Amino acid sequence: MKSLNLVMNFKFTVTLFVAVTLLFACCEALKEGQSCVANGSCDAGLHCETCLANGNVRPRCTRLQPVNPLSKVKGLPFNRYSWLTTHNSFAKLKAKSGTGGVILAPMNQQDTITEQLNNGVRGLMLDMYDFDNDIWLCHSFGAKCYNYTAFQTAINVLREIGVFLEANPSEIVTIIIEDYVTSPNGLNKVFDAAGLRKFWFPVSRMPKNGGEWPTVDDMIQHNQRLVVFTSKSAKESSEGIAYEWRYLVENQYGNGGMKPGSCPNRAESSAMNTKSKSLVLMNYFTDAPDFAQACKHNSAPLIDMMNTCHEAAGKRWPNFIAVDFYRRSDGGGAPEAVDLANGHLVCGCANIVSCKENMTFGACDLPEPSISPKTPAAAAKNETSFSNLCYQPKLQWLLGTTLVSFFLL
Ligand SMILES: *[C@@H]1O[C@H](CO)[C@@H](O)[C@H](O)[C@H]1NC(C)=O
Ligand SMILES: *[C@@H]1O[C@H](CO)[C@@H](O)[C@H](O)[C@H]1NC(C)=O
Ligand SMILES: *[C@@H]1O[C@H](CO)[C@@H](O)[C@H](O)[C@H]1NC(C)=O
Ligand SMILES: *[C@@H]1O[C@H](CO)[C@@H](O)[C@H](O)[C@H]1NC(C)=O
Repeated sequence: MKSLNLVMNFKFTVTLFVAVTLLFACCEALKEGQSCVANGSCDAGLHCETCLANGNVRPRCTRLQPVNPLSKVKGLPFNRYSWLTTHNSFAKLKAKSGTGGVILAPMNQQDTITEQLNNGVRGLMLDMYDFDNDIWLCHSFGAKCYNYTAFQTAINVLREIGVFLEANPSEIVTIIIEDYVTSPNGLNKVFDAAGLRKFWFPVSRMPKNGGEWPTVDDMIQHNQRLVVFTSKSAKESSEGIAYEWRYLVENQYGNGGMKPGSCPNRAESSAMNTKSKSLVLMNYFTDAPDFAQACKHNSAPLIDMMNTCHEAAGKRWPNFIAVDFYRRSDGGGAPEAVDLANGHLVCGCANIVSCKENMTFGACDLPEPSISPKTPAAAAKNETSFSNLCYQPKLQWLLGTTLVSFFLL
């Protein structure tokens, strides 16, 4: 009896061990496009979400981060890289106003500036206003900020940027200010107060006639890692802050910039193909932020528009790709668009993944990594294959139960 019990116990233990191993051994972190149940089950740089607007009912691992192009090829001029950029970066969903009240203004992003920076966002679009004896980030109208359109004081966010630049000595951040500040030196004062002066990239070093920017290595060595643009032309000479459209061209923002096949410049910008401006900024977001549709917009249509704008800009790829809800997509999203742009800019390949230090421009490895946005149908096919069994909780459970019963009987 005793030995039989021992044998039974042994058998049970082995069975359990085998079952548990079978259940979990194959379940490493999930890749982009695979079905998931929790954020934590996806690979680093991915998270788990659905894109109902694109018919993706099941949650999938989707991209949060672009590849850092500097990790691939260093030493190129600043204008030879593309950066993930958030539109109204400060206008966070569910934020409460720093004035203490509710905010009755559109909201365009889901996370804080620090989280955005940690996810590889390197372009921040900030709307700044004089308000309450300070400079505030506001999403307002009539060039005036109100309690119910005020998000927070600018210094809060600028300090977050300072912390990031301090902790990441080879990263470069660009701030694009929609500037409603009229108090004299209001912007300079707040940048100084936030401790950002030491990172300032001087206007005098920005190329005026379509020349190359200093290299990123040079910018890093000089610690000139904060590029700031204002929308107010006069401030360049009066306050030493670069006037945005003297250095870059930019397409129409809002719905006007989302018509397939056309990429017109916004009113303040020179024509997209003006090569005397070395930088190209591409906007791709709706007039009113649309959380539900953003995952669709940030997917294949964004890449289509990037190709359209590439043609419109005289075969130049965008240096800044600006979107709402940058985390939302049906797979690769805005981070993938940035990877594609960086591939072309950095090494002449279709994706930054193919770029290598010191390689000959355009000498890409073949075949290129798959870059087409995954269609829901294509991804769905894989859900039924055996290799993906472990990603399906129900099947996992079924398999587990069957195995356990089999061994026990
Ligand atoms: C993943 O995290 C986000 C917040 O970052 C959350 O909105 C979402 O529901 C999470 N996904 C899952 C499947 O838990
Ligand atoms: C607006 O916010 C300020 C603080 O920033 C507060 O002192 C003031 O009472 C608020 N006004 C209203 C009408 O809520
Ligand atoms: C690339 O070239 C530089 C300068 O010639 C050299 O120092 C560096 O080691 C090279 N990198 C690789 C990965 O070959
Ligand atoms: C399906 O799985 C195969 C092999 O695991 C993989 O090569 C392919 O990229 C997957 N397709 C999609 C759409 O995820």
